[in-house]
Amino acid sequence: MTSKASSPGKVILFGEHFVVYGIRAILCAIDKRIFVEAEKTNDSSIKIKSEIGEISIDVNDEKLIESPLKPLHYLATKMIQEYDYDGGIKISVKSDIPIGVGLGSSSACCVAGAAAIANLFGKKSRDDILRLAIDAEKTIFQNTSGADCTVCTFGGLMQYDRRGGFSKINSSPNFHLVVANSKISHSTDIIVSNVKKFKENNENEFLELCKKESSLIDKVLGSLNKNNLPELGKYMLENQKYLEQIGVSNQKLQDMIDISKKESFGGKITGAGGGGCIISLTDDTNVSKTMNAFQKNGYECFSVKIDFVGLDNF
Ligand code: MEV
Repeated sequence: MTSKASSPGKVILFGEHFVVYGIRAILCAIDKRIFVEAEKTNDSSIKIKSEIGEISIDVNDEKLIESPLKPLHYLATKMIQEYDYDGGIKISVKSDIPIGVGLGSSSACCVAGAAAIANLFGKKSRDDILRLAIDAEKTIFQNTSGADCTVCTFGGLMQYDRRGGFSKINSSPNFHLVVANSKISHSTDIIVSNVKKFKENNENEFLELCKKESSLIDKVLGSLNKNNLPELGKYMLENQKYLEQIGVSNQKLQDMIDISKKESFGGKITGAGGGGCIISLTDDTNVSKTMNAFQKNGYECFSVKIDFVGLDNF
């Protein structure tokens, strides 16, 4: 029996990093997906194959694995133990989400992986899948806010905070996001730890920034309601300043923001920063111009729209 699931990637529109400390973030799923297929086997191994590598581990091997595929190994082991299954599991992953650049490839893999693997043993709800996915993500990123897995599971545009969970934002803004890749890879875990150090060394400044981010989010919700893209673009640039202040930007990312400002409504880092991608807010009038501006300067870019499906095929 084979079980298949797919999950979209995501962008954080506002509030990354601050969301780890309880501030609301606004994020959306994007129309690029990861696909996971899982199959029960008769041998006693967990086999995982993806673009980033391949592993085969005996189900009885208790040694902790050090691999980016660890969340999938965790999920397979958990299900085998929970259901007292005496065979193995074979998992394969295909993705059209660029890896390690802040677009949620890892969270989407946890969500699609949790659904494909768990459904080999019995039907689960989206909430169950989300819980499994967050536990799996914690094997490589202990301090996750849970925001990324949540939007990958439910899709659409949402506000999220650590305590209250998510609520969907029921406007359908007509924007395209131009995603430009700095080609600097980053580790979310390390950058989140660096922000923690910044917070510990600059308690008052960080508190002040949390307040500013929180009131910015209130204004953003108003602009989303009115579908006011020029206003939202201005708020993105404001959010970018806060991210610069906590040290997750760098010269290359700033140069990219300067390119973004020329044609789009505004832009910012999305996700952990330190590298990864810049998003620029556009509509039909300036999406091509913004893409051209990045390409002329040698940056790889593409445009995305909101995915309203979330976890699929399970
Ligand atoms: C990473 O995509 C977003 C961060 O806010 C971390 C998190 O929310 O878990 C940097």
